[in-house]
Amino acid sequence: MDTNRLSKTIEEALNAQMTKEAHASQIYLSYASWASDKGFDGIANFLFRHANEERNHMMKVLEYILERGGKAKIVTIPAPDADPTSVQNCFEKVFQSEVDNTTAIYKLVKMSHDEQDWATWNFMQWFVKEQIEEETLAMNLLNKIKIAGGEKASGEALYALDRDLESAPDDAPSAEDATAANPI
Ligand code: FEO
Repeated sequence: MDTNRLSKTIEEALNAQMTKEAHASQIYLSYASWASDKGFDGIANFLFRHANEERNHMMKVLEYILERGGKAKIVTIPAPDADPTSVQNCFEKVFQSEVDNTTAIYKLVKMSHDEQDWATWNFMQWFVKEQIEEETLAMNLLNKIKIAGGEKASGEALYALDRDLESAPDDAPSAEDATAANPI
């Protein structure tokens, strides 16, 4: 008796998403390593923490596939792209990586909707919400570097930004979590 509750298409798409989250983790690791090498230890720390978060996302998808009776296939993770050329470029790459991930997540949401796989549709809603946070976080990084002077940021401004990110929270607050008593 087949106990797999995922269609072949959804199982494949979830497996691809699982690898994509692992890839995101590698991307953040490579940028963190670049930042550390350039002496931006605060930025590196922030990116290292985020790499762990991406790995947690990968595990979340893996556990869901198994929970539904599917097979999680562990495959090669593509190498991250080239190192950033500047702090601004680093944050632009982070933002682009998050937007790409959101696009992949939306495809899975649509696919599960088309197949009326409401369990997967419901599972994916967590990722839809998470991506709002992740994109906000990336936009905030870009705003910070813009204020610091962008590509022309002085050493002093970059030093302050680096120190600031050392203690920055890992998650951006999400608008859906706002209440009258605790507006964000
Ligand atoms: Fe797992 Fe940054 O999204």
